[in-house]
Amino acid sequence: MTKKYIIANWKIYLDFKQSLKLAKDLVQENFDLSADNEVIICPPQIALSEVAEILHGSKYKLGAQDCFWEAEGHFTGVVSPADIKSLGGAYVILGHSERRQHLGETDKQVNKKIKAALAAGLTPVLCVGESLSERDAGQTQDKVRAQLKSDLDGVKLSSAQRLIVAYEPIWAIYPSPLEVDPQEVDKIGRAVEFELKDLLGSNSWSVIYGGSVQAQDINNYLQLESISGALIGHASTQGEEFVEILKQVTAG
Ligand code: PGA
Repeated sequence: MTKKYIIANWKIYLDFKQSLKLAKDLVQENFDLSADNEVIICPPQIALSEVAEILHGSKYKLGAQDCFWEAEGHFTGVVSPADIKSLGGAYVILGHSERRQHLGETDKQVNKKIKAALAAGLTPVLCVGESLSERDAGQTQDKVRAQLKSDLDGVKLSSAQRLIVAYEPIWAIYPSPLEVDPQEVDKIGRAVEFELKDLLGSNSWSVIYGGSVQAQDINNYLQLESISGALIGHASTQGEEFVEILKQVTAG
C-alpha cells in the first residue's frame, strides 16, 4: 500500500493559544494511524516551537509553513530550515499559492528554498497549481509543468530524501472554492507524476491534492491512482472535522 500523507496547513486561522489547544486535543484523540498514514501538522510559525513539544512522541509529525533559503545571518524576519529541523520538524510547505500571490514569491525563490530544505534534512511539500483564468484558458498542464521545471531546477534527490508535490488549483482553495471534478484532479496528478519522473528520475516523491478537502470528500481524492494524500487548510483547523477526516483516512 502506498503511504498517504495528510498535511494540516493551519495558515494563520488559529492564533498562538488556539494552536496549542488544537495540538493538545489532537494528541488526546485516541485512534490509531497505521504506518501507511503520515499526518503532519503545520502550525503558524509563531507556535512552531510549542506545538513541537506537544506533538513530540505522538502519532503526528511536525511541519512548517515556509522557510528561508539561508541557514543563518543577516536576514530579518525569516525562519531557517535548520531551526525547523532542530525543533523536530520534518516537513516544510514551500511555494504555496498564497505566498506567490500575496508576497510575490517567485519560482527562483521557491527553488532556492527547496534546495535549502533538502540540505537541512527536511522534506519539502511543494505547492503548484493554476489560477482560474489559466484553467479557463486551458493552460493548467502547461502552468503546472512550468512551475515544476523551475521550482525543481537542479534538484536531485538522494536515496534518503523525499519530495511531496501538492497539486492545488488556486480556484479550489477555501474560502471561495469552485466545484472540483476528481477525475480532472487525477488527470493533472498524472501529468505531475510524468513530469516528476522526467525531472527527478526516481520515485522518491509523492503527489497529493489540496483545495477545500473535507471529511465528506477526502476519499474521493485518496482513491485516485495518482494521488497519495491531501494538503488541508481550513478544515484542518476545525478540530472535529479534522478528526473525522483522519477517521475517514484510517477507515478508507
Ligand atoms: P483549504 O487550503 O483546504 O483551506 O482550501 C488548502 C491549502 O491552501 O493548503
